[in-house]
Amino acid sequence: MKERVIYKERKNTNCEKWDGLLEEYGRRDLLPVWVADMDFEAPSCVQVALQKYIDFNVYGYYHVPDSFYDSIISWEKNYQGYRVKKEWIRFIPGVVPAIYWLIQMWTQKEESVLIMPPVYYPFFNSIKETGRQLVECPLLKEDEYYKMDLELFENKILKENVKVFILCSPHNPVGRVWTKKELQAVLDICKKNEVYVIADEIHQDIVMSGYKKVSAATCGNYDEYLITLTSASKSFNIAGFQCAYAIIPNDKIREDYDQLAKKLHFTEGNNFSYIATQAVYEHGRPWLEAVCNIVESNYFYLKNELKKVMPKVKIAPLEGTYLAWLDMSDYVDPKRMKETILDKCHLAVDFGELFGGENYKSHIRLNLATSRENIEEVVKRLQLITN
Ligand SMILES: Cc1ncc(COP(=O)(O)O)c(C=O)c1O
Repeated sequence: MKERVIYKERKNTNCEKWDGLLEEYGRRDLLPVWVADMDFEAPSCVQVALQKYIDFNVYGYYHVPDSFYDSIISWEKNYQGYRVKKEWIRFIPGVVPAIYWLIQMWTQKEESVLIMPPVYYPFFNSIKETGRQLVECPLLKEDEYYKMDLELFENKILKENVKVFILCSPHNPVGRVWTKKELQAVLDICKKNEVYVIADEIHQDIVMSGYKKVSAATCGNYDEYLITLTSASKSFNIAGFQCAYAIIPNDKIREDYDQLAKKLHFTEGNNFSYIATQAVYEHGRPWLEAVCNIVESNYFYLKNELKKVMPKVKIAPLEGTYLAWLDMSDYVDPKRMKETILDKCHLAVDFGELFGGENYKSHIRLNLATSRENIEEVVKRLQLITN
């Protein structure tokens, strides 16, 4: 059964995307297509599960039931092909905080951590703010299709003595769903050079038709080097609950992680987050499939319409995520990108330089998880650049 996806007007609900405009952009007169959450109601199973809990109206300490872990185990097995054991799963309050912890667990100050720009900007911050050395191995671009530069990757690992690689899979913002072959190639290099891998797979469920997301951990025997971080938060628009999880199959790494968690005195999440996550993993699949269809159709609408009115805008093929990555260099001087998009188009986007600096100044990232009307409006507003 397909579940209906309901668009929601979110203005004046204290949501970052719509109500955080003034703080982020200094103005309110923008159509927001920036923050990576959806303008859709969560699937109805979330409301049902939470309502049951709210009706009981006692919010004491929670005993996390086996059914919570079972829901993750089934989801990972059915949709990621990853056979996870309960004892490998650790609650985390978000993927980003866990990245910070793992960097500190696996490296000393000044040691090198590698990422592949353009990439989700907190990766940069996690390395800089923990006092580690940032090593960049930019993705290669052929037409609009991005690939990993494996030769440069191994060279940088050796030259900069890299200890940790943060993999983004699927890759935000370029929308690649890495193939098993690509993942094996990069993970083999890590294994050979004893580089630990933080596999950020938070976008694992938003995959377009014809593509298959493969979990890095299932690509071979990489357990001694790899931790997977993921969540139901992006897939089901429940990021506000702050519930994610780490999958740590290796005993020794798990022991190290547990020691660290003990020192931070951090082990538990909140009752609502467990209930919501379990509900979507048990009942949310039809809703998710409907959302993926909407994202795909919004993407093709954007691409086809822009082709008519701004044929030189280059759009990366969308294989996964609900984020479109556009190169506007044929229309806008990169130096004037911000003022053009804000003053002329009145759009709140994520500007390309956030994802890797100067090289991406001609790019913008747009969020497709919204109504068709909003995407139509985005096209109209981008077209103003040509006037
Ligand atoms: C690649 C990636 N990792 C992590 C996050 C956020 O993770 P969390 O909210 O669980 O910290 C995002 C959000 O957009 C993301 O795109």
